[in-house]
Amino acid sequence: MEANNRMKAKRALPFLVLGVLVVGAAGALIYRSGGHGNMPPAPPMVHPEPWSGSLELPMLEDTNPDPNVVEVSLVARPGELAYLPNRTSSAWTYNGRVPGPTLHAKRGDRVIVHFKNELAEPTTIHWHGLRVPNTMDGTHRVMEAVPAGGTFRYEFTLNDSGTFWYHPHMRTDVQVAKGLYGAIVVTDTGEPTLPTVADELLVLSDVLVDATTGEVDDSLGPRAQMMGREGNLILVNGSRSNLGITGRAGEWRRWRIVNAANARYFRLALAGGKMVRVGGDVGLLERPEEVQELLMTPGERAEVLVTVAQPGQAATLRAVPYDRARGAGETEAVDIVRLVASAEPAVAIANLPASLRTIPSLAAPTTVRTLRLGEKMEGGRMIFTINDVPYSKQEAIQAQLGTVEAWDLVDETGMDHPFHLHGFHFQPVGSREWKDTINIPAKKTVRVLANFAEHAGASGIWMYHCHILEHEEGGMMAEVHVR
Ligand code: C2O
Ligand code: CU
Ligand code: CU
Repeated sequence: MEANNRMKAKRALPFLVLGVLVVGAAGALIYRSGGHGNMPPAPPMVHPEPWSGSLELPMLEDTNPDPNVVEVSLVARPGELAYLPNRTSSAWTYNGRVPGPTLHAKRGDRVIVHFKNELAEPTTIHWHGLRVPNTMDGTHRVMEAVPAGGTFRYEFTLNDSGTFWYHPHMRTDVQVAKGLYGAIVVTDTGEPTLPTVADELLVLSDVLVDATTGEVDDSLGPRAQMMGREGNLILVNGSRSNLGITGRAGEWRRWRIVNAANARYFRLALAGGKMVRVGGDVGLLERPEEVQELLMTPGERAEVLVTVAQPGQAATLRAVPYDRARGAGETEAVDIVRLVASAEPAVAIANLPASLRTIPSLAAPTTVRTLRLGEKMEGGRMIFTINDVPYSKQEAIQAQLGTVEAWDLVDETGMDHPFHLHGFHFQPVGSREWKDTINIPAKKTVRVLANFAEHAGASGIWMYHCHILEHEEGGMMAEVHVR
């Protein structure tokens, strides 16, 4: 691993090498000052030329004739891709693709996944946001990692509709950075029909790529240790950003957005069109809400309807700067995707249903807990903690099935952390939206109501952690034993 990293560094662009050296010195300073104010900026972004195409992603093929069973095969294996035109990048893939093919199913379906690991190291699959049985959750606490060359059969029933995703839960930071992630779309015939002409996925991520050679650098330098790996190239469905798609003025499109990046926050603003948020991490909201922008942490999902009013006009979804750690935020906006209205006359913009779903308020919490997210230097490197200890020293907290708990998530550090809970959903206090991942801003406290509701196989040990994957692997993870 060490040797590997050193070789990588040698091949990296001079600015990267330089960057790492500068950050190394600054890292020590930053710790002493107790903030991240001196963190050097990330490498400059690649701004691809506008290009045209489609948002279509391949689907996993369902080989089971039963309409209520979705049976698919996933293989994790190394592959070669072209993140940049005429450049070859090596990646780890599901079925040869980044993102992996989309799992499409409907609520209530039984899903069977025949998984094969063709990587040279152990891996697992975690179904982010789905309330699967504990033994299917893909963490090392509930299953043996699938060894190189090994197989595993995942099987679960879909309890929820919405937009979810899958990724490994072994060396998660490295394996996801190398390309192991894919989307899950669960529809529900009981939901109101939205007046849309398209239902499209935008799986967002980023890679640190050498623009000349196409080579991806996923080494863990001091800046990445602190902030998580951030790339210089934003990926939309595995391709470079600034993609143009064509529609007709007045038509609504549904965009299901997944932030699959290791560490990058996407603050998304739509310029020149209208954007209405209809769904979050776990399916529909109660009501549509028009929004100017969306802040999406790693792990979060959003469903929006977008339209352009006038023929010939375009709406551009842009990632605009967001400062998630004092002084260390990006400064550049990057165009993600453009929706271009053709010259055809506009259609009348259809009204949206006033109500999308009824979400019950939760019962009063039986327990209030405080979980403090922290960081400290230990043995010369930064470690991340929950209630002062890293994952290796955690003891599982105990929660009772069928109860609601109030969790006060306290961010004691100088940067934001996206908090994620496995196996159950929560509501932020004061809102009736189901979530599984939520931003905890630097130095702030957020209270969520965790709903430990029964579902098949709900008893067991479930993880909760920061979804900046380098923080998770760096110790900001713990367990809740639910029974
Ligand atoms: Cu997206 Cu522990 O996972
Ligand atoms: Cu998860
Ligand atoms: Cu974090």
